[in-house]
Amino acid sequence: MRVVIKNGSADGSIWAAHYIAEKIKAKAAKTSEPFVIGLCTGSTPIQTYAELARMVKAGELSFKNVISFNMDEYVGLPENHPESYHSFMHKYLFDLIDEPAENIHILNGNAPDLAAECAAYEQAIRNAGGIDLFLGGIGEDGHIAFNEPFSSLSSRTRVVTLTEDTRIVNSRFFGGDMNLVPKQALSVGVATVTDSEEVVILAFGPKKARALAAAIEGPASHYCTVSALQLHPAGTIVCDEAAVGEIKLNSYKYFKAVEEAEQNC
Ligand code: GLP
Repeated sequence: MRVVIKNGSADGSIWAAHYIAEKIKAKAAKTSEPFVIGLCTGSTPIQTYAELARMVKAGELSFKNVISFNMDEYVGLPENHPESYHSFMHKYLFDLIDEPAENIHILNGNAPDLAAECAAYEQAIRNAGGIDLFLGGIGEDGHIAFNEPFSSLSSRTRVVTLTEDTRIVNSRFFGGDMNLVPKQALSVGVATVTDSEEVVILAFGPKKARALAAAIEGPASHYCTVSALQLHPAGTIVCDEAAVGEIKLNSYKYFKAVEEAEQNC
């Protein structure tokens, strides 16, 4: 696992955006096959999306040959609700870039048959040739997408029940009222994420420190589902100093030394 520690969320977000942009360009230089990206929501990726959008506007990057799959969506929340992940993605990314509408995939939390919707999503990812890079955030309990503690590390896209903790944390987007936060969501599984060629996780701020320490130094466990990254050959965590506040000093020094060595290569 690679852990890139930047001073703050602004540096980390810009680093991640440029990393993703380079990956998109590198594939385009090799093949006409589309770049397939997995995307996340939450406050964490907003600055990364802003930088990607800036690059598109400046003509430095294009999403014309990019296909995207979002991680999750609430069940039963209207698509046009301001806090739906559909609304979020359009506001912070899709309305600002040149990705063709037909390339955008977001789970439909209002589908009449949710199990069929999830199965079709997994099939659509396979049809696209699999995901090249999955960009994720983490919950304060270490969940990836909406894979709450005790989600199997082999899980696939499915209906999930949110923990009370997650509903309390996410209530800040619903006027502070956890009763307005849907109780269920559709989410890609842990294995849907780890099947990707590469996984990049963003984690900023002290609220993520406990989860990050568990993910980096704890065992790979269904209790902290982002820890599945330990089993992935190309997993990167991009974080800031505050988010690694709970890892051991020696772990911190090692990750810093690795990045320094990378820069000197
Ligand atoms: C939700 C999303 C996750 C996201 C998490 C963290 O639970 N389902 O994909 O990573 O929120 O959100 P934030 O970035 O706002 O801390």
